[in-house]
Amino acid sequence: MKLNIALLAGDGIGPEVIDQAVKVSNAIAKKYNHEINWTPALTGAAAIDAVGEPYPDDTHAVCEAADAVLFGAIGHPKFDNDPSATVRPEQGLLKMRQKLGLFANVRPTFTFPSLIDKSPLKRERIEGTDLVFLRELTGGIYFGKRGREDNGNTAYDTCTYTRVEVERLARKGFELAMNRSKKLCCVDKANVLETSRLWRETVQGLEKEYPEVTVSYEFVDAVAMRLVQWPNSYDVLITENLFGDILTDEASVISGSMGLMPSASLGTKTRLYEPIHGSYPQAAGKDIANPLATVLSAAMMFEDFNLTEEAQAIKDVVNKSLVEGIVSEDLAEGKKAYKTSEIGDWLASNI
Ligand code: IPM
Ligand code: MN
Repeated sequence: MKLNIALLAGDGIGPEVIDQAVKVSNAIAKKYNHEINWTPALTGAAAIDAVGEPYPDDTHAVCEAADAVLFGAIGHPKFDNDPSATVRPEQGLLKMRQKLGLFANVRPTFTFPSLIDKSPLKRERIEGTDLVFLRELTGGIYFGKRGREDNGNTAYDTCTYTRVEVERLARKGFELAMNRSKKLCCVDKANVLETSRLWRETVQGLEKEYPEVTVSYEFVDAVAMRLVQWPNSYDVLITENLFGDILTDEASVISGSMGLMPSASLGTKTRLYEPIHGSYPQAAGKDIANPLATVLSAAMMFEDFNLTEEAQAIKDVVNKSLVEGIVSEDLAEGKKAYKTSEIGDWLASNI
């Protein structure tokens, strides 16, 4: 297969983790006879510094023309501590999600047998966890009307959802559930929020089209608790943008590290694959970040191209690296910590 992949490394540790995903993907391409053309493009703080814009039109054109986008991370502390900054790296990410129509963000949570004891949660609670969040990614409070009133002393962000937005996300959730354990949980706050009531009503309306799927409706606060108590009770969870952002960080604790969690974003155009972690600026340039979330995001990419064997080969080699202790600082626990680049080399040579 011939693949054209847009490569958006972004900020902080982004370039370092992306490099490892490229090494591993190239090793896969070599072994299975594929051809991958990587087209790098600017995004985030790196793009602001270069052209004054976090998601330049040129970058969008590269993404639109590609078969998929592999994305690193976005964000730089120089913007975080400056509330007056008018252009922020994160705007690039949001603009990209919107312009590429990436309304569904698939965030799986699973455990690695060799890492179960790295989680602060008890083994018997988390063993065998295999759930997927489907986070709505282009609506809600992230994209609602916002502003200041009262001479800047009052601020507001509004959360808006349309039935169409909820329905297309919910359908993806039902379809995903059909291919898994046929359990779907709609996470909302319908006891308080009108948008949540629209979510519930819309999902309820779809139930009869998917009679094999058992649907539950749970409040986000209760899910936040149950997720770490009984993660095994969940299969597919669908939720709105902000709830999904928060719950998926929480869910990463089950796996043992944020550095392990991949994601895929899909919608109307090119799909995008990215780790769920941020740009980890404290580690930038030090070659210490965990590249596995990005490497596993590349596995999700191969999977979506129906290259199942290739995706499995990546997951297997990642598993092997964990079993053999070829791990970065976040998982080393006093033992030898491998460099980001060493892990990439090890994975690529063991493909
Ligand atoms: C994520 C990130 C982003 C988000 C930030 C960087 C804007 O936290 O992908 O989860 O909130 O969506
Ligand atoms: Mn997040």
